[in-house]
Amino acid sequence: MRRALITGITGQDGSYLAEFLLSKDYQVHGIVRRASTFNTGRIDHLYKDSHDEEARLFLHYGDLTDGSSLRRILHKSEPDEIYNLGAQSHVKVSFDQAEYTADVVATGTLRLLEAVRDYCDTTGRKVKLYQAGSSEMFGAAKPPQNEATEFYPRSPYAASKVAAYWYCVNYREAYSLFIANGMLFNHESPLRGETFVTRKITRAVGKIKLGLQKKLYLGNLDARRDWGFAGDYVEAMWRMLQHDTPDDFVVATGESHSVKEFVEAAFGHAGLNWADHVEIDPRYLRPTEVDFLLGDPSKAAAALGWKPTVKFDGLVKMMVEADIELARQEATLINAGHRVSARSGN
Ligand code: NAP
Ligand code: GDD
Repeated sequence: MRRALITGITGQDGSYLAEFLLSKDYQVHGIVRRASTFNTGRIDHLYKDSHDEEARLFLHYGDLTDGSSLRRILHKSEPDEIYNLGAQSHVKVSFDQAEYTADVVATGTLRLLEAVRDYCDTTGRKVKLYQAGSSEMFGAAKPPQNEATEFYPRSPYAASKVAAYWYCVNYREAYSLFIANGMLFNHESPLRGETFVTRKITRAVGKIKLGLQKKLYLGNLDARRDWGFAGDYVEAMWRMLQHDTPDDFVVATGESHSVKEFVEAAFGHAGLNWADHVEIDPRYLRPTEVDFLLGDPSKAAAALGWKPTVKFDGLVKMMVEADIELARQEATLINAGHRVSARSGN
């Protein structure tokens, strides 16, 4: 049975990837951060008690800021494939917590690479590693962006991802490790964190539709993103590690839309007029913005046989419908006298 280790298993992508790998009969190990509240909500449905003979998902406490935990977990889990998805992944927050973001995203990747290098040396095992790179690395570079586009990062997050990318290229060349950098454009889902713009919008649409919220405050509506579906993108990660040679790939839909177009489509799908509800709050603007991302995924299509199955309209519909259902459940609880915490985001 092949074994995979996922950092960031509790995040959006970690959850889809764990589900995907379990469906391919992997034994899956995930690194979980200690938190004062439960942070495993996205993977609880996959978890079986480790005493259960059928258990194939195992969780380990660890952190990308703690190298010794990474080393210990490698020896315990003995992975064939590692997916490094752990990150402080919010671009706006990276301006507020720049050093921490660099410590997790850039130096955290370096810690993992050092641990993998030593693990391979001491055990003689071969391990493949996927690094979660980002279209943010292209930043201000002219669209469309592909594998040959020069990086122009516009945030501490993006600069840290560029550093992590180059650490990976260097370790691939210096130590002949199988390391693939994915350069993934924005990908979303009903499991997307609620402070990223798509989910913030669809959560608001659901709550407004059910009468639980009136206004939605946003920042820059003109930014353009190439939005795909997270479920499709985790398959691309896996395909990169099944490829005969380690390489770097752009993963995108090849379509770009503005935040305003997402807002119009999401409110429209719920039969609402967005102009009645959306207001601009400068708090959500960024010191430097990434204006226009549009990916060219032709290399991934040709070499990996990967294609997105969900495009913009399907994604908006999927997220709005899930969030209307979630708001309906919340409304039921509220009407029954329970308190449901309202969340607003960055
Ligand atoms: P996410 O939902 O924010 O999940 C991030 C994961 O990283 C969570 O499991 C989080 O744990 C974990 N994490 C945070 N700090 C950590 C630390 N110090 N040590 C170990 N784990 C830590 O992000 P995502 O959307 O799934 O994205 C997955 C990866 O792909 C990230 O590296 C992200 O930067 C990158 N990426 C994402 C996109 C996208 O559009 N989604 C595009 C390109 C690249 P908690 O649950 O405890 O917070
Ligand atoms: N979050 C947020 N909140 N973004 C807003 C808002 C708001 O209220 N209003 C407008 N935006 C704009 C942002 O300025 C940005 O241009 C765009 O919406 C998308 O923002 P996010 O959804 O926060 O995503 P991101 O593109 O900055 O970063 C995401 O995608 C990257 C890949 O390109 C994250 O998932 C990163 O981790 C990932 O690397």
